[in-house]
Amino acid sequence: MAPTPELSKDVKLKEVSGILLQAATADSWSKIQTFEAKPDDLLICTYPKSGTTWIQEIVDMIEQNGDVEKCQRAIIQHRHPFIEWARPPQPSGESPRLLWSTFCLSYICPYSLPLFLYVARNAKDCMVSYYHFQRMSQVLPDPGTWEEYFETFINGKVSWGSWFDHVKGWWKIRDKHQILFIFYEDIKRDPKHEIQKVMQFMGKNLDEAVLDKIVQETSFEKMKENPMTNRSTVPKSVMDQSISPFMRKGTVGDWKNHFTVAQNERFDEIYREKMKGTSIRFSMEL
Ligand code: A3P
Repeated sequence: MAPTPELSKDVKLKEVSGILLQAATADSWSKIQTFEAKPDDLLICTYPKSGTTWIQEIVDMIEQNGDVEKCQRAIIQHRHPFIEWARPPQPSGESPRLLWSTFCLSYICPYSLPLFLYVARNAKDCMVSYYHFQRMSQVLPDPGTWEEYFETFINGKVSWGSWFDHVKGWWKIRDKHQILFIFYEDIKRDPKHEIQKVMQFMGKNLDEAVLDKIVQETSFEKMKENPMTNRSTVPKSVMDQSISPFMRKGTVGDWKNHFTVAQNERFDEIYREKMKGTSIRFSMEL
């Protein structure tokens, strides 16, 4: 594992209703609450580093019927506005609005009308991905050493709070609202099958050739090279990709290169305790 570089950033998170948030998000809290959902909105919800960008590109490719050029019209962050940002999209936006949120259930509930697409990624890989993201993000706190970050993450002291609460919360209500709950590991294992599920959820019907094209165009390798998805347009003062690229590895099981045996045993114990009572199963049991 690469050593943590000396970073000069002195960034602190702010607490809002018991959840730590990036300062800009916390400061725009009152504006966020004016967001109004429409029934045909598609709101992608994820815990950070769960494959948001991947599913966003998949959804846009489906919406554009596999037209690659149309998907090149703007960077992904503009094609799927983030409702936590200071300027939430207006209700007058074109339908269906493709939106993105990282808030957990308790904040989303008031907007319970739209279609929700929730993507979960196994906690260990999420932690690893988040660690490297915090190393390079200049708007999130320095993660410290891997050992320090391990404690920070399991205690939910990261931006957008606890992985356990987020995933558990959405899993519990998956049958009560219009929620398609899918897993990063499943998209990785059988992208076509999962893309088909998303397509059906969106009420679209694309033929096999288009589906195959979407699988190809949304592969890690393609998205890593694509300036509309790889965050290369984000200034270094926000994301310093010389420290760690945004499109880092895109694999399942990278945690094995980071966790010590002791950390793994401890994590498994915490996981069992925190996830007790839920039936959620990741396809690759960790
Ligand atoms: P890694 O850091 O493990 O590589 P998010 O978009 O929610 O911030 O998630 C980022 C993670 O998703 C990163 O994980 C990134 O590499 C991975 N990712 C992005 N596009 C992907 C794709 N097409 N296939 C697989 N993983 C992808």
